[in-house]
Amino acid sequence: MDAKKFGNFIAQARREQKLTQAQLAHRLHVTDKAVSRWERGLGFPDIGTIEPLALILGLSVVELIKSERIFDSQISCSDASDLLKEAFTLMNEQEKLTLKKMDDQNVVKQQYATPDALRGRISLHDRYSTNKFGWFNWLYAQYNFKPGCRILELGCGDGRFWAEHFDKLPEGASLTLSDVSGKMLETARQTVGHEEEITYQVIDAQEIPLEDGSVDIVIANMMLYHLPDLSRALQEIRRVLRDDGVFYCATGGENGIDSYIRHALHLPRAEKLKFTLQNGEEILHTVFSQVEKRLYEDSLAITDTSDLVAYARTLPWIAEQPQLKTRLSSQVIYSALEAKKENGVIRIPKEYGTFIARK
Ligand SMILES: C[S@@+](CC[C@H](N)C(=O)[O-])C[C@H]1O[C@@H](n2cnc3c(N)ncnc32)[C@H](O)[C@@H]1O
Repeated sequence: MDAKKFGNFIAQARREQKLTQAQLAHRLHVTDKAVSRWERGLGFPDIGTIEPLALILGLSVVELIKSERIFDSQISCSDASDLLKEAFTLMNEQEKLTLKKMDDQNVVKQQYATPDALRGRISLHDRYSTNKFGWFNWLYAQYNFKPGCRILELGCGDGRFWAEHFDKLPEGASLTLSDVSGKMLETARQTVGHEEEITYQVIDAQEIPLEDGSVDIVIANMMLYHLPDLSRALQEIRRVLRDDGVFYCATGGENGIDSYIRHALHLPRAEKLKFTLQNGEEILHTVFSQVEKRLYEDSLAITDTSDLVAYARTLPWIAEQPQLKTRLSSQVIYSALEAKKENGVIRIPKEYGTFIARK
């Protein structure tokens, strides 16, 4: 983005709107000095001001970023993609882009206040995964449940896994399904049922209200990266496990769908996730003596881009950050992802697997 071109463009648009620098500044809640600086090409407004500025000047955000008048119909997919890149370069330059972290508790709370976002994402996997065996079937095949064993699942989500697999549990096994979100647990209760055989309990994985050595199996899938105090949770899990107990924790890798979407949207790579297929083994070894990693081979082959757009817009780092969500409208994401299609298909690598840890 050219600061001089931008400055001249907004100065002219301001005059057309018959506004003085002071009037424009007043409406944007900034100083008139700031407006004067932008118009002289000495700086850009911060990213949160771009949208109201466009509105006041009767321009679109795209016109502001390009610093020229354009008609929407003239914007091709690749133009939109270039514009997006420019917008994010600007955002990064201003260092205003603080992508929220996956263990930010406000993000986690809002994201799992209802099961909708999680369910929406699972449905994309159902529809477009190339490995038709299915993630949940594969996961169940990794578990070694003995008759009479006591199982605790942490962060069980909407319970769909158990709705599909509860009937396969061996004789006498008992199951506690838990989640820190009461609404999520309620959904699990409705989805799985079997109220007499299953205990449902709100539990924060960082403080498990169970006796030492009281369970045979702990499961914590796709949730350890949400925990502010991961090492405390791992200590807790170790504490409640019997000496010969087993801990199963599935997670994703650094080069899966999230990173593909970020790249397509010209966003910076995510800060390293707290618990991934890449770093999980080392982290688990701080608490467990044996750790094994098993990988599930899979990818997505997406034909309807709008399904991927819906998925992207529920991702915690977009959905729970209003500024970014406004900027990344469905249309903008659609253009960036549609440009990735080859022969009508968007192919995205998946990286999923599970760790199996023992005391
Ligand atoms: C991505 S979902 C995974 C759900 C399910 N395990 C699965 O694999 O489909 C993450 C779940 O972890 C839960 N969670 C987040 N922080 C938690 C915590 N501190 N203790 C227990 N559960 C937590 C969320 O409420 C959410 O249901």
